[in-house]
Amino acid sequence: MSKITISIDGHSSCGKSTLAKDLAKELHYAYVDSGAMYRAVTLFFLENDVDPIDAPIVRNALENIEIRFQVLDGQNHTFLNGEDVEDEIREMYVSDYVSPVAAIPAVRRSLVRQQREMGKAGGIVMDGRDIGTVVFPGAELKIFLTADVDIRTRRRYDELRAKGVDIDLALVKQNLLERDHIDSNRADSPLTKAKDAVVIDNSYLNRTQQLQQALKLAKERIRLSE
Ligand code: CDP
Repeated sequence: MSKITISIDGHSSCGKSTLAKDLAKELHYAYVDSGAMYRAVTLFFLENDVDPIDAPIVRNALENIEIRFQVLDGQNHTFLNGEDVEDEIREMYVSDYVSPVAAIPAVRRSLVRQQREMGKAGGIVMDGRDIGTVVFPGAELKIFLTADVDIRTRRRYDELRAKGVDIDLALVKQNLLERDHIDSNRADSPLTKAKDAVVIDNSYLNRTQQLQQALKLAKERIRLSE
């Protein structure tokens, strides 16, 4: 069976990584959370006071960042320079700063290069904002996932609360709207639906239902690629 490339793009907190992980598991494909890479770079910038508008400093910082993923107890963990930062990169102070960092062209160039390397053999599901448009424009299956903003807010709020984070619902919504705005309006690789992407609105779909829809599409595309 041939191995295809699957991209999942969409707005903040619409369940892209849940769907991408479920799909990768069903198909025995690799899964890459490209957002975790932008979050790890952001954490490094914050911890090392990297001034995002100072190009030589940004370039130098990027040369000193090594990101890798490892599955531990069935969970995906992101490592930044050898340190497990999986929990830290999901915190609000990183969420508040990630979209401006992700808008820096040098940051995108560096991460896109690494993402293409990870996916060069196919058999991969990658989620993000520019995967179907920029990282893998030739992906056999492109999904554009979307959901109502209040439903997305509630999901992220519940996720943070379950982790013990004390946060206000209104602040979560504000962060999602701000990131959506910056991500969709930046000059370099804005979030937009690829022309050949299939839209799935999962506002009223549960996890199994969204997986079934995506799996059906994936199986069709795998068959076509053979
Ligand atoms: O999980 P959530 O949808 O909240 O976001 P994420 O996938 O972890 O991505 C965090 C941020 O990284 C986004 O808001 C974008 O600013 C940036 N990002 C990007 O620019 N390009 C990607 N391929 C993935 C993420």
